[in-house]
Amino acid sequence: MTNPTRSAAQSAASQSSPLSADPSARRIGIDAMAFAVPRGYLALADLAAVRGVPAAKYEQGLGVTQMAVAGPDEDPVTLAVDAARQLLTGAGRSPAEIGLCIVGTETAVDHSKPIASYLHGLLGLPSACRVFETKHACFGGTAGLQNALDWIASGSARGRAALIVCTDIARYSLNSAGEPTQGAGAVAMLVSENPRLVDLEVGRSGCFSANVHDFWRPLYRKDALVDGHFSVQCYLDALSGAYAEWRALNPDTDEADRLVRTCYHVPYGKMAKKAHARRCQIDGLDEAAADASYEREVEPSLRLPSQVGNIYTGSLYLALLSLLHHQAGELAGKRVGLFSYGSGCAAEFFAGRVRPEAAALLSAMDVTAPLRLRQRLSFPEYEALRTGDAQADQRPAEAAETAAPGAALKLPELRPRYFGIDPQERRIYAVQ
Ligand code: HMG
Repeated sequence: MTNPTRSAAQSAASQSSPLSADPSARRIGIDAMAFAVPRGYLALADLAAVRGVPAAKYEQGLGVTQMAVAGPDEDPVTLAVDAARQLLTGAGRSPAEIGLCIVGTETAVDHSKPIASYLHGLLGLPSACRVFETKHACFGGTAGLQNALDWIASGSARGRAALIVCTDIARYSLNSAGEPTQGAGAVAMLVSENPRLVDLEVGRSGCFSANVHDFWRPLYRKDALVDGHFSVQCYLDALSGAYAEWRALNPDTDEADRLVRTCYHVPYGKMAKKAHARRCQIDGLDEAAADASYEREVEPSLRLPSQVGNIYTGSLYLALLSLLHHQAGELAGKRVGLFSYGSGCAAEFFAGRVRPEAAALLSAMDVTAPLRLRQRLSFPEYEALRTGDAQADQRPAEAAETAAPGAALKLPELRPRYFGIDPQERRIYAVQ
């Protein structure tokens, strides 16, 4: 008599012959992507009017026009679930295919229990699945993605896919210099062999790390602290270091190897412009050539981020999604660069090639739908939400029967929802 569990595992292992395969000959990368944002956003012009600065400082000076603001029933867990559900439904993939689930976040909801465990339960992922959370400021999502690539390249995946979700709510104190660079959102990515969006280059990254105090958030604080202008310098130094290693590993010998676009971590759009200028300088371009290169090679990646703000771990991947949404067709087969930066600090420069199937898949998934469903908040509504969210982690959940899974069906909207905590201080969620 055969053991069905054992034979399924053996056949999955034999399909990919993990240890004998040459990883460089295999295609590994991002198969599908989706993002989620809260229902509310604040127009930066409205913030500027109250703070007494010209709107142009935020809109052109920083390159942000709107920032997403989370409501009392939205948190990094609900955003992660929302993005992951859109991903699986839109890409026609089943939770049963997932063997690794990593959540990158720097705004975790618990010092011990990872968001990945909530996500695992709320999505109904298989119990035979490795599940954990990664943290290194905005670099946490990239740490998860690189881990997934190595998991597949090593053969540990045995034909399964990885779900990587970057989710965060970026908060600075009201009326601080960082305030216009807040945001909230999640990006979910399915990472697999033979991906349909981007083939990523495994083992060819340039890395840079240093111990710096550019941005931090002590355990007792909800709002981040930052040495703003120093953080810009740290980002640029990290870019120089990571790019230098990447160039040494990737000598640009052939026109087909040229990076035709580059996506950067986007705390605000102007930072990506500064980053590209630094790279052009390293490559020996003059200022006029660098400006032209920015318009062609970077600007399309900043269109979605400019409507959402900084989403920390997901910011680089929202930029990639923006690029693919606007230009995947013309970029088929072309090589793009990716730069991830996390304060503290850690950075990585890596690259990939856009797949010919990417444009059709993304347009079928209608990836920008979340932006069409948002409501514009007035300044007083924004201020009330920001003041109230200090209490959100300790808010008692509504009556127990409201929080019960069956009662969730009565909710007016089809979104995952955070209720508050129960008497044992456990967070209560519902997903329809
Ligand atoms: P600030 O000091 O208020 O702004 O805050 P500023 O005076 O530097 O002005 C900003 C830009 O607006 C300047 O452009 C001005 O010239 C321009 P630049 O010189 O830089 O090209 N400007 C105008 N433009 C048009 N019309 C006008 C006008 N007035 C001025 N009227 C700062 C800026 C970035 C410091 C602040 O927003 C901040 O502290 N933000 C948070 C920190 C941050 O985002 N750092 C980025 C690098 S670190 C990072 O990316 C990691 C991070 O994501 C966290 C993580 O890893 O977890 C933050």
